[in-house]
This record gives sequence, C-alpha cells and structure tokens, in this order.
Amino acid sequence: MTGQPRLDDHLQRYSETSSHAPAVAAAVDAIAMASIEIADLIGTGELADAAGVTTGHNSDGDLQRNLDVQADAILRRCLAGLPIAALASEEMREPQIGDREGRICVAIDPLDGSSNIDVNMTVGTIFSILPTPDDPGLAFRQRGSSQLAAGFITYGPQTSLVLTLGDGVDIFVLDRRSGCFRLARGAVQISEACEEFAINAANRRHWDPPVRAFVDECLAGVEGPANHNFNMRWIGSLVAEIYRILTRGGVFLYPSDARPGYGDGRLRLTYEAHPMAFIVEQAGGSASTGRERILDLAAQTLHQRVPLVMGSSNEVRRVEELHCDPLLAASVSAPLFARRGFFRL
Ligand code: AHG
Ligand code: MN
Ligand code: MN
Repeated sequence: MTGQPRLDDHLQRYSETSSHAPAVAAAVDAIAMASIEIADLIGTGELADAAGVTTGHNSDGDLQRNLDVQADAILRRCLAGLPIAALASEEMREPQIGDREGRICVAIDPLDGSSNIDVNMTVGTIFSILPTPDDPGLAFRQRGSSQLAAGFITYGPQTSLVLTLGDGVDIFVLDRRSGCFRLARGAVQISEACEEFAINAANRRHWDPPVRAFVDECLAGVEGPANHNFNMRWIGSLVAEIYRILTRGGVFLYPSDARPGYGDGRLRLTYEAHPMAFIVEQAGGSASTGRERILDLAAQTLHQRVPLVMGSSNEVRRVEELHCDPLLAASVSAPLFARRGFFRL
C-alpha cells in the first residue's frame, strides 16, 4: 500500500485549482486528521471511557451517546483556526460562527449510525463544504448543488475516506503504519446493475403506497416488473449503506412515513442527505426525495429532515415514476386508503 498516492498530496494538487480550493483542502485535511483520532476512540470499544453511555438528547431529539459528543469535540478542535465562516453540527442547536473572512462553511454529522456503536458495526462521520454566501446567515440555506466538496469516513474493518471535490469520487483508506490516508479507488462509479435494496422494512405498514409498491416490485424479483431478483440489506448506518452502494450498486430508501415525526423521513438534509447526494451523483448515481432531486433543495432550518432515495439511477427513477403514478399518488393523501390500511395496495 505504501506506493499509493497520499491524501495530502492529492489535496495539495487540488488546492491550486480555484480561489476556494485552499480552504476546502485545509478543511478536508483537518477532518481526515480528526477521523484518525475518532477511529482510535471507537476502536477501543468498551474499554473506552463509557463508550456507549448516553448523555442526553441532541437538537433533533435523538439520544446522544458519549461518542457522539466526543467525536463532535474532536472535529471542532481540528477545524478550529481554519478560514471557516460557520460550522454546523448535528450535535449543536445553532451553527458556530467562526472566521468573518472565511471563504467556506462546513456542516458535519460527527458520528452517523451511532446506535450501532454497542454492536461493533460500522459507523462514520459525514461532512459537507459550502461557499460562504454574501449573507453568512444563509450559509446552510443554500441548495445542495452549491457544495464545493463532500465526504464521509467509515469506521469499520477499514477506516476509509470517501471524497468528492466536485470532480468524481475517490476512496482513500487509512494506512495505519504510516498514519495517513492513501488512494485505494479512484473515479468510483456506481454500477448500473442494482441487485440490493436497503430499507427499514419494519416500517412497512407506515409507508406511502408508492414506496410499498416499489418494495413489492423488488420482492417479486424475476416474477415482477423488475424482472430480476434482489437481496435486501439494512445496516442502520447511512455511511455503511452508501459505501456498499458505491462498491457494488444498490438503492437505499429512508422515505417519509406515517409515524409521528416521520413525515419527512429521518435523515437530515444539510449534513446527511446533501453530502451523500453530491457523492452519489458524482459517482453516476441519483438521489431524490421520490419527487425532487435532493441537490435542488435548500434547507429552511438547520436540522430539517428529508425523505431520501439514493443509489443506482434506474431504481431511483423507478421510485420517482411510482410517485407520479396517479392511482398511487392520489392514495398518499387519502388517509383511510393509504395510512390506515383498509385498502392496502
Ligand atoms: P445518526 O446516528 O447520525 O442519528 O444517524 C442514524 C441514521 C442513519 O445512519 C440510518 O440510516 C438511520 O438513522 C437508521 O434509522 P432507523 O433507526 O430508523 O433504522
Ligand atoms: Mn447521521
Ligand atoms: Mn450523528
């Protein structure tokens, strides 16, 4: 592995390409350094100081683990002093205002999938880097298509950094002997063939008819309109699901559903859906709410949720088609039909 190009060399070359690029490169480098510390902490598992202990609730009402809070603190420490105008985190109610002259703004999910920590499954860090708008108060209300860079780190068997700087997707793996990230896969493309779907099927009775219809088509396999068989996977960790889709194709869904508080699904637009959508599109896939392209959306509030369907383009398009189907679409808004289940499709 020692012959593979290093992340810092890659960032150095990129930093000469535009006026924003030096700040973006510095932020990605700082997040990569933070992730090495976070990986060490997570790798210590139950030997770490109260790894799984809960400390309270974040601004979205989720249970906060000790590691959520520690990962957030490590990232903020590593990003301190960089030309960043505003920093938003899942773990902070409001963005933290930084360098008034800063050219970029950064949004982070310090630890994604943190309910998986106790069971020794892959978790991760997600980040999105935006240009500073004229009114810094609007920093996190930009469309997803404004992102300059996005990425995520997976803390699994390997610690991997998936990165887009707006020109394709590269995957770097942490070389533990030299303590740096090295390129493992360049110009990653999501395969056209989609043989796996990922959704929390326990929520089936709460889904809208277009989502139920899509999953039914997947389950019907060769005997249905999809005309091929699928496997199902659900890890409960967005970073792990998207890493798998970047590796061997597939589609991921966290749709809106009828449970209280899930009218816009579960995942947050600014620091989950936007960066993942940027990565997936840069790898040739698609990301949608089922009705609209994720990167066309701009958040109204920092922690707002959004229904999310992403991965292989053909399947995402199929989900969108089902949302346009007049019969299925009409039944979404007819409570007795769609949600109470008297007339299940
Ligand atoms: P986070 O730990 O940052 O709150 O995110 C967890 C997310 C995501 O990773 C995963 O896809 C989803 O929540 C799992 O939700 P369910 O618990 O509903 O399966
Ligand atoms: Mn998350
Ligand atoms: Mn999180």
